[in-house]
Amino acid sequence: MARDHGFHPVRIRRIVQETADTRTYVLDAAFPYRAGQFVTLRACGTLRSYSMSSSPDTDDEFMTTVKRVPGGLVSNWMHDHLAPGDLVEVTLPAGVFCLRETTVPLVAFCGGSGVTPILSLVKSALATTDRQVRVLTADRDADSVIFRSALAELAERYPGRFEVRHHLDAVDGGFVTAERVRDFAGEDRDADFYICGPTPFMDLTERALLDHGVDPGQILIERFGSASGEPADPRPATQETDGTVTIVLAGKRHTVAQHSGETFLESARRAGLAPPFSCEAGNCATCIAQVTEGEAKMRVNNALDDDEVADGWVLTCQGEPVTPHVTVVYED
Ligand SMILES: Cc1cc2nc3c(=O)[nH]c(=O)nc-3n(C[C@H](O)[C@H](O)[C@H](O)COP(=O)(O)OP(=O)(O)OC[C@H]3O[C@@H](n4cnc5c(N)ncnc54)[C@H](O)[C@@H]3O)c2cc1C
Ligand code: FES
Repeated sequence: MARDHGFHPVRIRRIVQETADTRTYVLDAAFPYRAGQFVTLRACGTLRSYSMSSSPDTDDEFMTTVKRVPGGLVSNWMHDHLAPGDLVEVTLPAGVFCLRETTVPLVAFCGGSGVTPILSLVKSALATTDRQVRVLTADRDADSVIFRSALAELAERYPGRFEVRHHLDAVDGGFVTAERVRDFAGEDRDADFYICGPTPFMDLTERALLDHGVDPGQILIERFGSASGEPADPRPATQETDGTVTIVLAGKRHTVAQHSGETFLESARRAGLAPPFSCEAGNCATCIAQVTEGEAKMRVNNALDDDEVADGWVLTCQGEPVTPHVTVVYED
């Protein structure tokens, strides 16, 4: 049975101004989801993903939180045009930046809007487990801190189990340093470490944790965009092979010769098609399609769970053929 990756109209129930440039959109949606997941919004003729700041375990309402990105198309359109009562189109929740079945501490590092999925994870971990939870937020200044009071309330409600520390660039001598990351990680090297924020912040935090002796398998990262601004792990297409790639888009079949080193998304574009995509880095799942013939592998997969992969779903921006003839079907 195919999973529902289509778009659903949902009404905005209310909008909460969190900081000068960040708003929470409370949606009239009753979708099942896991803490840390995201929905993908269709707006302005394009697609963008937004994580839930609500927790399915503690919140009755379904909330996403969006920060303006300077010069950004969709985030600014949402802030400038959306009002309570408006309809928006979103996918069902997806993503693998979720809690694992474990009792080890949860230590999170987040910068800016990266706190959105972290708040959801923290609320669920505190409400449904006995785990120790610690969060380091990094922001420009005190006015930029999103969910400061929500995090403070959790610290009050869970004394001895939850600690939040705020790093403010303006008062703490600039950006977070590797030393500060190691200091916050402390001796909890076997914890689950969650990281979400601007790319340089995530890179520094990941490097610092690895240098601190943390196993890479203990580090979970949610990338809000392409790691470098470029597609992840780009490799130039090389030569035509004897194989074929058949793309089924809007019910129509298009077959092109296979090129080694080419993703399905690139093959589709070469066929003159315009399939959906957003991050082109394996993070958002907007480019999802199903392999119905042949086999594929993904270079990066930060968005599909094991069941989806077993069912043949593939991120076309990261998927490439393994067998000579592969058919990839986009949902209508
Ligand atoms: C899984 C996932 C979860 C996410 N969760 C959240 C969340 O909870 N909250 C949140 O706020 N965001 C989240 N994001 C990020 C979000 O999806 C968008 O990427 C973000 O809102 C920016 O989109 P935009 O359309 O406003 O900006 P875009 O138009 O995509 O622009 C992004 C940047 O590129 C620059 N740019 C645009 N066009 C050009 C050009 N032609 N040349 C040079 N530079 C250009 C812009 O100036 C801007 O700096 C998430 C992303 C992913 C993948
Ligand atoms: S476009 Fe985002 S995962 Fe492929």
